[in-house]
Amino acid sequence: MIDGKKVLFSGMQATGNLTLGNYLGALKNWVTLSEEYECFYSVVDMHSITVRQDPAVLRKRARNLLTLYIAAGIDPKKNCLYYQSHVSGHAELAWILNCFTYMGELNRMTQFKDKSAKHADNINAGLFTYPVLMAADILLYQADVVPVGIDQMQHLELTRNIAERFNNIYGDVFTVPEAYIGKVGAKIMSLQDPSKKMSKSDENPNGSIYLMDDPDTIMRKCKRAVTDSEGCIAYREEQPGIRNLIDIYSACTGKTPQETVAEFDGKGYGEFKPAVAEAVISVLKPLQDEFARLSKDKAYIDGIIKENAEKASYVSTKTLRKVQRKVGFPDRVR
Ligand code: TRP
Repeated sequence: MIDGKKVLFSGMQATGNLTLGNYLGALKNWVTLSEEYECFYSVVDMHSITVRQDPAVLRKRARNLLTLYIAAGIDPKKNCLYYQSHVSGHAELAWILNCFTYMGELNRMTQFKDKSAKHADNINAGLFTYPVLMAADILLYQADVVPVGIDQMQHLELTRNIAERFNNIYGDVFTVPEAYIGKVGAKIMSLQDPSKKMSKSDENPNGSIYLMDDPDTIMRKCKRAVTDSEGCIAYREEQPGIRNLIDIYSACTGKTPQETVAEFDGKGYGEFKPAVAEAVISVLKPLQDEFARLSKDKAYIDGIIKENAEKASYVSTKTLRKVQRKVGFPDRVR
């Protein structure tokens, strides 16, 4: 608890260009949650280097992501928006937690298996211990809740196990975090293959709507979205493409899928697809405008980066010192 509020931690990687799926599925919820919880939203750049990155590109994307958090409506004065790499406690706690995590546990992580298959030429130790760094992220801030997608659930479960293991040995040091299960964000699928999640690393750029796509591009991608030959706008498994467009339209307009279906009753895809595009544009346009405005204000963003890194360092150091003392590191001499 900080100031009577529960603590929430989450992070996003600044790799790839964020998609409408990232926005509707995660970022939009982060905004809502930021009003209720004491939130730490990190740009997890240390996680990103488990895969080779171009330094200039990573730096640029990290800044863009942090700016986007603010543009999306998260108040950087009330919440902590910061770069993971600016707070040394992440690496320090991760080292300690490495010593409380078993090889066998890490070997079972499905993301490690997937990523090592994908990057067979660079299966580095960081890729292997990635989940321990993630556990450190969360535990450093004594987070009560962590909103994560299904793909990160296994990592969160591991975090809980590490926290409990540590607490069993040393007493109550860590808050054992819960997955945030509330209103979950919309799960948006690829426009080209509705059986796959819309992804920032999709090889086919027509499958994803990127947050910075201009209106013409959004219109074109929506019009080209894969559908079916049923010809009716119904929300059912058999029509995954249309179902996905209904989800997108509903998430963008705040309607329920049922309301969307009723609205387009008797209409064809030729009418529905442009309406979806317009709904997306009306959500992304203000976000893009705010992002452009903020990006120009270098001094303001720099100020936020500095202030929030200090805040994150302050909060995390408290946990770190406690942990260091518990494991037997000598006290600092003042
Ligand atoms: N591993 C997460 C992802 O790729 C990002 C992440 C890093 C994270 N640390 C975190 C998410 C802590 C939640 C909490 O999506």
